[in-house]
Amino acid sequence: MNTSSRNELFQQAKQWVLEAGANIRTQMIQPMEIDTKSNANDLVTSVDKKTEQFFVERIHQHYPDHQLLGEEGYGDDVKELTGVTWIIDPIDGTMNFVHQKRNFAISVGIYQDAVGEIGLIYDVMNDVLYHALRDEGAYRNGEKLPQLKPDVTLETTVLGMNHYMLCPNRLLDEQVMHQLVKKIRGVRTYGSAAIEFAYVAEGILDGYAVMRLSPWDFAAGMIIVHEVGGLTTNLTGNAVDMLQSGSILVSHPNIHQQLIEEYFIKAKK
Ligand code: IPD
Ligand code: CA
Ligand code: CA
Repeated sequence: MNTSSRNELFQQAKQWVLEAGANIRTQMIQPMEIDTKSNANDLVTSVDKKTEQFFVERIHQHYPDHQLLGEEGYGDDVKELTGVTWIIDPIDGTMNFVHQKRNFAISVGIYQDAVGEIGLIYDVMNDVLYHALRDEGAYRNGEKLPQLKPDVTLETTVLGMNHYMLCPNRLLDEQVMHQLVKKIRGVRTYGSAAIEFAYVAEGILDGYAVMRLSPWDFAAGMIIVHEVGGLTTNLTGNAVDMLQSGSILVSHPNIHQQLIEEYFIKAKK
């Protein structure tokens, strides 16, 4: 993808993301259907579905040779990241959307031959758009984000995690997780992986660790965080598979390896 076609694609994606966000703000004050998916706490609404369909219709019409992988299944059956692939979460943080009407995002990552080219995360209710183009830096509402500050240590770390990381469970050793919580400065849970990635890019979280995310949760965030010097792997330090669900650690490079070696590998049962 050359610079000018990538810029054009970015402008188009940005316009659709902002338009989809405006539609969500309108639709959320009207009656909506709320269903559950894999379990009683895994929510999906008619607005999630309509938002994904909004992208599918436009992408298929304007870019018939692009593939689309979307959480709600209206896109393509993507088996390989060849050519241009849009990886979309129409609403990331549906539980927040339903219960709080805030702290949810539209997440759009555009990959060419498995290389992340364009990332957009739109915090819909705060009207904040994070974006990045590979090798051109990351931005928050058009303002360039600085590289992650150099003086981060584990002792000063504020780490995003969800409750699965901390509650007793069959996958992680509770004692090791307690040691980690005692070592760092604080833990935060926002309930939208995309927003948590954006916060790592902004340097207001130093990392975010989760047991299981899917490609649409992290596709945009990885591109954005990478542009400010952050790292993303799974919790054992291996490369993230862009077409599989799995654990994720996105963090400041000063603490990434230490978190893996001293905590997450030891905590793995
Ligand atoms: C969820 C959110 C949540 C994370 C879950 C995701 P959804 O996405 O990102 O923060 O902990 O693992 O599934 O279902 O609201 O799009
Ligand atoms: Ca999601
Ligand atoms: Ca979603």
